[in-house]
Amino acid sequence: MRRSSFSMLSDTVHRREMTVHVKKVFFCFLLIYLFLRRVLKGRSEEMNGKNMIELENVTKKYGTKTAVDNVSLTVREGELFSLLGVNGAGKTTTIKMLCCLTRPTGGRAMIDGHDTVKEASEVKALVGVSTQDTAIARNLTVEENLRFMANICLDPAKNDKAAITEHVEEIIRSFGLSEVRKTRSGKLSGGWQRRLSIAMAVIGDPKVIFLDEPTLGLDVLARRELWQEIRQLKKDRTIILTTHYMEEAEELSDRIAIMIDGRIVMTGTLPELEEKTGEKGLENVFVSVAEARRA
Ligand SMILES: Nc1ncnc2c1ncn2[C@@H]1O[C@H](COP(=O)(O)OP(=O)(O)OP(=O)(O)O)[C@@H](O)[C@H]1O
Ligand SMILES: [Mg+2]
Repeated sequence: MRRSSFSMLSDTVHRREMTVHVKKVFFCFLLIYLFLRRVLKGRSEEMNGKNMIELENVTKKYGTKTAVDNVSLTVREGELFSLLGVNGAGKTTTIKMLCCLTRPTGGRAMIDGHDTVKEASEVKALVGVSTQDTAIARNLTVEENLRFMANICLDPAKNDKAAITEHVEEIIRSFGLSEVRKTRSGKLSGGWQRRLSIAMAVIGDPKVIFLDEPTLGLDVLARRELWQEIRQLKKDRTIILTTHYMEEAEELSDRIAIMIDGRIVMTGTLPELEEKTGEKGLENVFVSVAEARRA
């Protein structure tokens, strides 16, 4: 039976309308999907913390020496993450790459979504670092060191002289540095120098702080005082800590990674590490992991 041209035209129009209708429905579903994905992502970030630090297959070679070997790692916002390892394991080199003090020779490191090589200035604005070889100028007083750092770290467009002074005073107060503020830093004891070094790392209110052996060589009381400072910092920042004191890592860390010969060989909370190794206490966990690798 032959169909009239009107009927064929009507079919074509109908089909076109259907196509438009399907497209509209598809578009609506797409919008709903994108909206839900965003809400759920936000929810899960709220619950778990977003990834503040990400390393993807990061490697650092010095000539033929591989200091950091293909390390992949994530640290969530607000975590205190400890990097443990014997001398020469690659902890300081990892930190140096994360705060743009040296470039990876392979892989990619990100802070809050910013690439440490391609977006170094954004990364530098996000991080503060207290290194093993402290960046304190020994001839300057405590106050002068802090002011010097504030002048470097604080954006001059947003901070006039009065704002810088106020920021420095706030740091002096919160780190209990008032009694040594006029003392030349080179004359401070090791404990005060460490405290000053951490205070300098906090100037500019960085989101991420790297503390490389912050309590090295301190007596028990000075170390515990600094733990208090670190606990205070931990409240609203992400911290990477290195230490050779196992009780310090036990006391302060949310998660721990053990590094051997430039590689991360185990990561987890203390109970997770204990379960993986069948050992009790971080020192026993660490020794068993390090000795198993050496054997
Ligand atoms: N600038 C450099 N040039 C050559 N080799 C380096 C350099 N910096 C570090 N290394 C080497 O890289 C390896 C890792 O050093 P790194 O300082 O990262 O170790 P670490 O885990 O921080 O050790 P420690 O606990 O002693 O501080 C070591 O073998 C070290 O000798
Ligand atoms: Mg080191």
